[in-house]
This record gives sequence, structure tokens and C-alpha cells, in this order.
Amino acid sequence: MNAAIRCLVQDLDCLPACAGLDELFAVVNVHAINLDDVADHVLFDPERYHRELIVNADDYQILVLGWLPGQKSPIHNHRGSQCCVRVLQGTAVETIYSHTRDGFFETRTDRYAAGTLFGGEDADIHTVENAASARQGLVTLHVYRPVLSRMELFDVKNDRLVVREPAVLRLS
Ligand SMILES: [Fe+2]
Repeated sequence: MNAAIRCLVQDLDCLPACAGLDELFAVVNVHAINLDDVADHVLFDPERYHRELIVNADDYQILVLGWLPGQKSPIHNHRGSQCCVRVLQGTAVETIYSHTRDGFFETRTDRYAAGTLFGGEDADIHTVENAASARQGLVTLHVYRPVLSRMELFDVKNDRLVVREPAVLRLS
């Protein structure tokens, strides 16, 4: 395992189970993981964004995702898990979905350059994408804690967010 990743793992191993999202962000922020640290795990798939599991611990996972221009996650949440993402190459475009009182939803889109962190937890709903106009692949490092084993996917129907189905992630 790369030395920088090993240091991150050591600190994640020390996080108490009750640690909040802020504490997870603090740990990931301290370790300035860069593209070279995960070079062996950066893969792209013309069919869909690629998920590469690099650390599979009891209570967290670290993945490297490769996104070609135009590739996008489904609308989803992270039932029961925290998620902290570090952008390693390119610009991540995150759209956050919020339910409104009238049953519809609002969105907010943010862009994250290489080196920056973003994330969420539990019932937060979002998509992540590499813009179709991007000139390079997007590479992101994800820490899910506890292990992300289930999430909900959503579709937009009649201007409302509708749960598609509970989904168990397929890890490759
Ligand atoms: Fe997510």
C-alpha cells in the first residue's frame, strides 16, 4: 500500500465509531492524498464511471473513482454512511437535491477543483459528475464510513424525486 494511503488508514482506524462527518473531513483533510498516491488504481470505463476499491476495512472503505467527461452518478443518498470525497484530478460537479415543503425539490450545483473536499451523509441526496465539456478524466478519492452497503436511487418524475429502488452497490 502507498505510504500516504497507509497514513490515512492509520488515522481512520483511530476514529471512534461515534465520530461525526466533521471529524471524518478533518482526517481526510490532513492527508493530502494526490493522484500519484493512487496511480495504480486510476481506471476509466467508457460504459460508466469506474469504482475501484482500494481499502476494505471493517468500518470504512476507500475507493478511487474514474469519470470520463459526461459520466455521472445516479441521483442517490448514502443511507447510514458518511462520505468524504477528495478531488485528485479534474473538477467534480456536485448537484445537491433538497425536498421542499410542497413535495417538489430544489437543486444547488457546486464545483470542486483538484485538492478540495466535499461530501455528505445519510439522507443527503446528490449526483456527482464530470462535465461533458471537461477536457480530462475526473479522479476522486472516496471514504465511506461505515461501509456503504445500501443506498437509495431516485428518479425525477413529474418534477418530483421518486425512489427508484433500494440498491446494493456493485463493487468492482
Ligand atoms: Fe454519493
